[in-house]
This record gives sequence, C-alpha cells and structure tokens, in this order.
Amino acid sequence: MLISIETQPAPAGDLIIPVVQSGALPDQLNDVGQRLNLPPSVLHRDFKADTNEVLAVYGPDGQRTYLLGFGTNPQAMDWLRILRKLFFSQKSKLSNRVGIDLSAFDGGIVEPVVLGILGGGYDLGLYKTDKTDPAAFFGEDGQLTLYVPADGQVAAQDALARAEAIARTQREMLDLMNAPANYKTPQTLANWAVNSGQRYGYDVTILDKVELERQGLGALLSVSQGSDVPPVLIVAEYKPEGVDNPPERRTVTVGLVGKGVTFDTGGVSIKTSANMHLMKSDMGGAAAVLGTLEAAAKLKLPVHLIGIVPSTENSTDGRSTKPGDVVTAYSGKTIEIIDTDAEGRVILADGLGYMLRHFQPDVLIDLATLTGSVIAALGYHAAGLFTQNDELATQLAEAGSRTGERLWRMPLWDDYSEDIKSDVADVKNFSGKPVAGSISAAKFLEFFTEGHPAWAHLDIAGMAFADTEFGSQKNATGFGIRLLIDYLRNVV
Ligand code: BES
Ligand code: ZN
Ligand code: ZN
Repeated sequence: MLISIETQPAPAGDLIIPVVQSGALPDQLNDVGQRLNLPPSVLHRDFKADTNEVLAVYGPDGQRTYLLGFGTNPQAMDWLRILRKLFFSQKSKLSNRVGIDLSAFDGGIVEPVVLGILGGGYDLGLYKTDKTDPAAFFGEDGQLTLYVPADGQVAAQDALARAEAIARTQREMLDLMNAPANYKTPQTLANWAVNSGQRYGYDVTILDKVELERQGLGALLSVSQGSDVPPVLIVAEYKPEGVDNPPERRTVTVGLVGKGVTFDTGGVSIKTSANMHLMKSDMGGAAAVLGTLEAAAKLKLPVHLIGIVPSTENSTDGRSTKPGDVVTAYSGKTIEIIDTDAEGRVILADGLGYMLRHFQPDVLIDLATLTGSVIAALGYHAAGLFTQNDELATQLAEAGSRTGERLWRMPLWDDYSEDIKSDVADVKNFSGKPVAGSISAAKFLEFFTEGHPAWAHLDIAGMAFADTEFGSQKNATGFGIRLLIDYLRNVV
C-alpha cells in the first residue's frame, strides 16, 4: 500500500472523517452535510460521535464517506484502536483508494492514525490454506491519502515515515509471537535477528548451545535441558554514526534484555492445560527487544543500543531440571529451583549477567512475560514497572502514557527479598507463597543486576497478548516497541 500526504480532499475512493465529541460537533456536522449534499438535521439525528460509532453515507456515484466517532478527548491509543477496528472490519469492502480527513486535528495524531490503519490489515490466519479474497486496499494497489492542514505537512511526513517503519517491524513481531512452537524455536528468533541486522546495518551475534556451555550460561542451559530444541543467546548491537568517536558526542548506551521462551509448559512443575497453548507467546519480551533494535536502526536514532535475548523452550523430559535442583548462573551465583515454571527469571539472570559483563549500559531495561501475578494486580490495562530509579520511572511511565502502552509502578522494598532467600543456594527462584509474585520475581532479577543504578524491569505478562478484533483467542499485541521507541526518542 502506498501512503501519501495531501492538503485538499480529492473526490476519489472512500473518505473517512474522524469526529470528536466537542462543542464544535454541530458545526462540523453542518459542514459535512453541506459537502455531501445532505440535510444536516439527518446527521445530527443519526450520528453522535460515540467511540467506534460509524455512519456510512453514500454519494450519488456510490462513493462512500464514513463518519467515525472518537468520543470525548481521544488519546493516541484511542486513535490507533478505533481506526484499526474500522479498517479490520471493513477491509473486504474498502475501495482501493481511501482518504482520511485529518485537517481538523493536531499533527500528533498522524503516527497513531497510520499505525491503526496499517494494523487493521493484520491477518491471524497465517496457516490457513484458503488464501482467496485478500483485501485490495492492503495489497500493492492500495492507496491511502492523509489530508492534513497545509502548515502540518512536513511534520506529517516525518510522523508517517516513523509510523510505517514501526508498523512493519511490529507486524513481523506479531507473526513471530503468534507462531506456534512447531514453527518457532529459539533458532527462528536468532535467524530473524541476523537477517534484520544485515538488512538494517546492526551487529548480531548468536551464541549457540556449545558456546553457552563453553562460557557457562548455566541458568539458561538449565531451563533448556528438557527440550529437544537447542537454546540461543542473541546479542544485537546498534551503534548510531559517530559512536566510535565519543568526544564528538556523548552517546547514551541503553541495554535491553528480553525473555525469549518459545514455549512454556512449566517444565516438571507443569502447567494445567486450559490455557497452555497461549504459552507459545512467552517471548513477548524478546519481541519487544528485537523489534526495538530493528525500529531504532531503521529510524537511525542517536542512541547506542544493546539487545540481549536468552531464548529457549521450557519443556518436560527425563533430563528436565527438577524442583530442588541448584544451578549456577553466568555471574557465578547459585539458584535453587523451587518451581520450574518460574523459568523466565532464571534465563533473564543470564541475560542480565551477560549484558553487565560485556557492556556498560547507562540504562538497563528488561522486559518479560514474567508472572501471572502482575495480571492479578493490574489486569490487562498496564504492565508492571519496577525500578529504584525515580527519574527512569518517570521517563518510562511518561512514554507509557504518550503511547498508550501504559506502565504502573510497583514497589521493590527489600522486605520482599526475604521471600527468595534460599537455605542451600544464593537465591531461590520462587517464594512458595501465593502473594506478591510479580514483586518477588523482580527482586530475584534485581539480585542479578549488580546494583546497576538505572535498571528497570517491565512485567508485560498481561499486555503482550490480549483479546483483539483479530481473533477469538488472545493474540499478540506487539507491546513494548512503541513504548521503547518513544522513550528513546525523548531521553537521548
Ligand atoms: N510465562 C509465565 C507467566 C505468564 C502467565 C505469562 C500468564 C503470561 C500469562 C511464567 O513463566 C510463569 O509460569 N510464572 C509463574 C511463576 C510461578 C510458578 C512462581 C506464575 O506467574 O504463575
Ligand atoms: Zn513459566
Ligand atoms: Zn514463562
């Protein structure tokens, strides 16, 4: 699909007119009535601009105009969701040419508008054999035109380029997240990263099982030992131009670590089967990290980024790690495995350890679909944010509000460390108590951060896959990429 920016609506194809509930609504409907040759009273009667409300009006030659309601005071995420829903539900009916009239709005909405429209073309049916009837608008012949105020054209071009870059990366991540474990192994993530690095000019190194053994990433290896597919550690590094000449410019280095469990059975502490199939998406942290590296490289952000993804399956087998086993992490610290289903924190221990031994990030952020407990606390509306650094907390939370990928700060008081003290090893991976599970998990991770002054942990278990218009089961959201790109654009 080709996307362009114009200032005057041209009378071709379908036109979408977003409408917000405000004092200006009656005048806006009068205007639209005049443009469409309709008595405004009809529009006043039939369209209230409620969120997701759609009124399709036909011109004399069958041309369609959609009035689309945005309720009161829509935020970025509302623009994205409402448009995604409309385009998803209408995609088979849309003309090849669609315009959207943004002339009444501030330029800040262009990015979520484009992300929403492109998002509406997503199709979960990757493995269906009947591929007939693809939506023409989302194909090669599709044309989208954004009508913006004349003085907003330059900014709109910029936002459009950014949104297209993010949308395409995010879509690849959705496919990876939604891929089942018989189509996706740690090596699949590694291959994706290597290809992306070659394409967009950043370095990717893969540590295979032999290398992990040689270098002693015992925590990651312990989770993978019950699985037939070998584990990997993906190390990606994006350097903006000039980073090798520090005197010219002090470049901030941000380290990102993401949980890449390609399937989580729970291991010997096996999960119940009701929702186990969803555990193919237990690599939402990895998707956020890999997607952010690619998007940052595409956008040439002036930040030095390191992305590390420990990736493995968590399976059951005679060789699986058993409850009570003690394993030695890359940092040399020992972990008593109380519950093999608390595997995310164990592999992250090695991801964090590897990051800290080989790189010196100014800021260190890990993302993981880590605990059911964070869902009990926050539901599906925010990810848990854990950090001792108030400035970092504010910066991340603000990026969360701007993008609608919301974060809510949770405590990290030392009282919670009592619960993960082990009798036999340096630390244990589960408190054994049915309380404060997301916090004791965060305290476990903190133990492997070596007192890094700007570390944050994001528990994205409730946000990485969710109910969407794309299907009847929870599916991937791509959470984290927009959040981190916004954070990086604003702090460096
Ligand atoms: N991958 C799960 C967490 C999860 C749960 C993600 C639901 C998304 C949706 C994680 O590995 C896990 O199993 N955590 C356990 C830890 C417990 C055994 C200490 C949990 O939260 O129940
Ligand atoms: Zn688990
Ligand atoms: Zn898991």
